[in-house]
Amino acid sequence: MSAVPALRPSTIDVLPQSAHIGAEIRGADLSRPLAPEQVADIRSALLQWKVLFFRDQPLSHAQHVALARQFGEPTIGHPVFGFEADYPEIYPVSRNRKKARYQGTELVRPWSGWHTDVTAAINPPFASILRGVVIPPYSGDTQWTNLAAAYQALSEPLRRFVDGLRGLHRYTAPQGSVATDDFVNKIQRRPLLTEHPLVRVHPETGEKSLLISPTFLQSIAGLAPRESQVLLELLFEHAIRPEFTVRFKWEPGSIAFWDNRSTAHLAPQDIFATDFDRQLFRITLGGEVPVGPDGRASVSLEGDPITAARALQE
Ligand SMILES: [Fe+2]
Repeated sequence: MSAVPALRPSTIDVLPQSAHIGAEIRGADLSRPLAPEQVADIRSALLQWKVLFFRDQPLSHAQHVALARQFGEPTIGHPVFGFEADYPEIYPVSRNRKKARYQGTELVRPWSGWHTDVTAAINPPFASILRGVVIPPYSGDTQWTNLAAAYQALSEPLRRFVDGLRGLHRYTAPQGSVATDDFVNKIQRRPLLTEHPLVRVHPETGEKSLLISPTFLQSIAGLAPRESQVLLELLFEHAIRPEFTVRFKWEPGSIAFWDNRSTAHLAPQDIFATDFDRQLFRITLGGEVPVGPDGRASVSLEGDPITAARALQE
């Protein structure tokens, strides 16, 4: 007879924010080491709700790193844009970073800006932990979508079709924008191109989800260019239907922690219509090489896997 795990009361309060995605977590102090039961409860809430929100957690960089280490192996801040010298795990997300990279970005399509973090690498991060420090009084909300729910909502014949497909993900400037010379130099120095399955089997839950990252996914292997374009347009539109999404209003001290294997998120655009400052800091946790429903893993075509920040210190 197999052992039945003893039931114990949850160590956290989980407050779902929509039917498919997003839960606020209360009852955890992220500034200090968590009890193992609390780590386990947060992790299982993450698998179920895909993105977790915490309020009033004014962490330092060191506390942010310590929090991340309880859930995985922090990567270097960013494989293309680098990291800060003192905290190689931390990637600053400020409103000015976009100006440094692109000129005249135009939102030519409704899904512009939606992405899953660093899917151009063979081993995209399994999770991201984003911490809000300077937050505008309004604007700058972030949205996430549940790509497992989106997959399940496709018709059965289309699910069967996409199950066998592979997509090419490249690190590049968004469509409709003109990259600055600095940005072009950086991505030429560290090109990233990976063929991923279009449907990914979650390594912990076994759930299938679309591995479509609109900013990085360029085309579907083996299809004619027009077939690829039309199918991607259909999938991108479908994946961001409002019922699969949740929207988060930041406050100073807010933290969003998402499963990067089953979600995409939208970097806010409305901030650029204001003069408000906005400063967040991100840590990503090292992830597995994705595997499709047919058991085939992703294949790297250009560039190196994302490395652990710890490797720099050894
Ligand atoms: Fe992102």
